[in-house]
Amino acid sequence: MITTNDIHLNETLGAIVSRFPGSIPILTKHEIDFCCGGHRTLATALDLSSDQRTHPVLTELNAGYERALTEGEDFQQFRYESPTMLMDYIVHWHHERLRENLPTIEKLLAKIVAVHGSNHPELLAVEQAFTPLKAAMIEHLSEEETHSFPLIKEASETVTLTRETMTALDSLREDHDTVGDHLKAIRRLTQGFTIPEDGCSTYHFVYQKLLELETDTFQHVHLENNVLFHMIG
Ligand SMILES: [Fe+2]
Ligand SMILES: [Fe+2]
Repeated sequence: MITTNDIHLNETLGAIVSRFPGSIPILTKHEIDFCCGGHRTLATALDLSSDQRTHPVLTELNAGYERALTEGEDFQQFRYESPTMLMDYIVHWHHERLRENLPTIEKLLAKIVAVHGSNHPELLAVEQAFTPLKAAMIEHLSEEETHSFPLIKEASETVTLTRETMTALDSLREDHDTVGDHLKAIRRLTQGFTIPEDGCSTYHFVYQKLLELETDTFQHVHLENNVLFHMIG
């Protein structure tokens, strides 16, 4: 039964993720970009014509949404009262975890490259994609914390969007696109984080961490591109 609360095809991906964060693994699995492409409707993302009323991905999303509502899942953490609260959450949850996880993944990825690289040359390509990803992310976190987030705070307090702030937001969006491209390359190279039969426990751990990094980053970028920037824009 369709209810007015159901997710629909004309809803933007950003809006879907905001009201149902459980959509993140579903959209990621179907390779639908909801963070950099969050302004698109689900119909556009699925390349549907205007007369199509349903699609298996929509059915899957609504089944998950209904389950989450039935189980009383609390989506409250994704509703923020102010840009400052949201930025605090982003820094303390996403940025701090990245600073902890990125060096761990780098170290263990180097280890599995040394042990399994000759049998699995794709690991070298994963490492080559991860190295610039890590560098770009670390630089990006510092930029946000020391430059862009203070500008956003100021914009929200003065209710004025300066050219400097708009330029900063454009630059952050570009960085997010770059990070998204590296993550998509890693997903492709690992065939969706599929562990080979001879993969050791470290191999499992690294792929699990890379998958978590992908999910967390898409959520992180979604919160910035589709929620935070819209609060002042
Ligand atoms: Fe961030
Ligand atoms: Fe960011």
